[in-house]
Amino acid sequence: MSPLLEVTELTKTFGGVHAVDGCSLAVEAGTVTALIGPNGSGKTTLFNLITGYLRSDSGRVRFNGRDVTGLDAGALYRHGLSRTFQQARVFPQLSVAENMVVAGGYGWRQLLGSRRVSRSDRARADELLEEFRLSHVADLLAAELSYGQRKLLEFAAVLMSEPTLVLLDEPTAGVNPVMIETMERHIRARHAAGITFLVVEHDMTFVMRLCDPVIVLDQGRTIASGTPAQVQSDALVLDAYLGS
Ligand SMILES: Nc1ncnc2c1ncn2[C@@H]1O[C@H](COP(=O)(O)OP(=O)(O)OP(=O)(O)O)[C@@H](O)[C@H]1O
Ligand SMILES: [Mg+2]
Repeated sequence: MSPLLEVTELTKTFGGVHAVDGCSLAVEAGTVTALIGPNGSGKTTLFNLITGYLRSDSGRVRFNGRDVTGLDAGALYRHGLSRTFQQARVFPQLSVAENMVVAGGYGWRQLLGSRRVSRSDRARADELLEEFRLSHVADLLAAELSYGQRKLLEFAAVLMSEPTLVLLDEPTAGVNPVMIETMERHIRARHAAGITFLVVEHDMTFVMRLCDPVIVLDQGRTIASGTPAQVQSDALVLDAYLGS
């Protein structure tokens, strides 16, 4: 069977910077795959290219059996490919519940009450808020949440689209240890329920206990992939991290 996500020779330059430089990788369905690499190695740019937030200079992306190169973020989201951001992106001046509704694909008219949000989507939002233990803050503005809670809200909101593949960009960065455990629990639960994950993360203990396989990026290209143990003992990976 072909991989759920296949990236072939993807390239993106900013001025003279080769942010992503002929990168190829594959994510198999049913995995929690890690994407690691030193700061500036191109992980976030690659996420932006895969999820349609940036256009590549060249290369292809295949998702779920079709070529999706060049599709915009909205189209990919509707096809079941969604992502979170390194700096959690929620609408700070909307309530937590409204953020869920917006993520479900509703626009301002529903928020203003002139068109109704379907009962099933409302129920889905309520269930997700319950699952993520955010029900008690449903009526607060997202701006009033802690940073960790905003990351949880962003994750919960992404699930409104019933995605097949979710890309998480540093889900534990800047959150406290209890919240890291909470995040891990939610990823595991959703993985058990059938979602495939590609996770960018700098916390190596988190990566090593949660992810398999691990793909390593350096200077915009894949330099290694394999089980956590294989990658940890790879000379190229050690070089990339130690900068030698
Ligand atoms: N919009 C942009 N304009 C110019 N250069 C950019 C832009 N976005 C990224 N870059 C550059 O591309 C390279 C890759 O950056 P990217 O953010 O993808 O790395 P990263 O692996 O996500 O790093 P980090 O681990 O610090 O988040 C860096 O040299 C960065 O400065
Ligand atoms: Mg990044």
